[in-house]
Amino acid sequence: GADMTKPSLTLILAAPRGFCAGVDRAIKIVEMAIEKWGAPIYVRHEIVHNKFVVDSLREKGAVFVEELDECPTDRPVIFSAHGVAKAVPAEANRREMIYVDATCPLVSKVHIEAERHHANGLQMVMIGHAGHPETIGTMGQLPEGEVLLVETEADVATLEPRDPERLAFITQTTLSVDDTAGIVAALKARFPAIIGPHKEDICYATTNRQEAVKAIAPKADALLVIGAPNSSNSRRLVEVARSRGCDYAQLVGRADEIDWRALEGVRAVGLTAGASAPEVLVDEVIAAFRDRYDVTVETVETATENVEFKVPRVLREPA
Ligand code: F3S
Repeated sequence: GADMTKPSLTLILAAPRGFCAGVDRAIKIVEMAIEKWGAPIYVRHEIVHNKFVVDSLREKGAVFVEELDECPTDRPVIFSAHGVAKAVPAEANRREMIYVDATCPLVSKVHIEAERHHANGLQMVMIGHAGHPETIGTMGQLPEGEVLLVETEADVATLEPRDPERLAFITQTTLSVDDTAGIVAALKARFPAIIGPHKEDICYATTNRQEAVKAIAPKADALLVIGAPNSSNSRRLVEVARSRGCDYAQLVGRADEIDWRALEGVRAVGLTAGASAPEVLVDEVIAAFRDRYDVTVETVETATENVEFKVPRVLREPA
């Protein structure tokens, strides 16, 4: 008969991986809002950047829109974990809508930093990715022109601040730790008086997931990151793996996106998940590997996490 022996393969699981406290809280907010007020509950932008999560919430009664004017005024609306510009809650208030802000508290902290520096008369530099909702939301805390965006070290050279002596910087929370260090160094070199956070505003979850990938990438012939193409922190994990010598590093939404032919001949595959990717998708990918290989799972843990954020009080009170 045919030889049914499967090739052996080691899956090296990164830890920490997957959901962060901000994502966990944002999803709970939508679920609890549906419980409290019934369906439909409107959500402005994907609550977190993951199709599986968005589809599951849609089934429970969430309706996803991009802008507030797509929502009726008589249903509650939730703002996504990435944060929103000041104009958004202002508009919701003007339209007398009930809203719940699911902005991650670590993003709100950056918003507050920006406001404080602005109140002290400083112009802001934001290190972030143009067009990402978090960048739009954070820049939108201050009036137009008060926040200058830099995406790369090269951008630092072309900045034209009002007063080079009166500057402060903030960052997106999901950036590459290494690339950001380079940009911060360039900012400090050109503007020695610039004020910033102690390191940057990159959050604990982003930092820990990148550290874990750095630990497993050298041992892996290939590395898969479960995450969405619009998920900033997930894309950074792919880059980190490549920068640490793992040439075949790929983003996959779910198991059916794995390119099995590209993995032919590999013996050790690293596996992690972005902060918005649920653990069920990790299980799904492991199961898909087990279908094809005799799998040994090895976990490499570089940090433990015990961060948890409370949902807003309005959802903890009875209707
Ligand atoms: Fe918040 Fe960081 Fe997650 S900013 S949403 S804890 S990736």
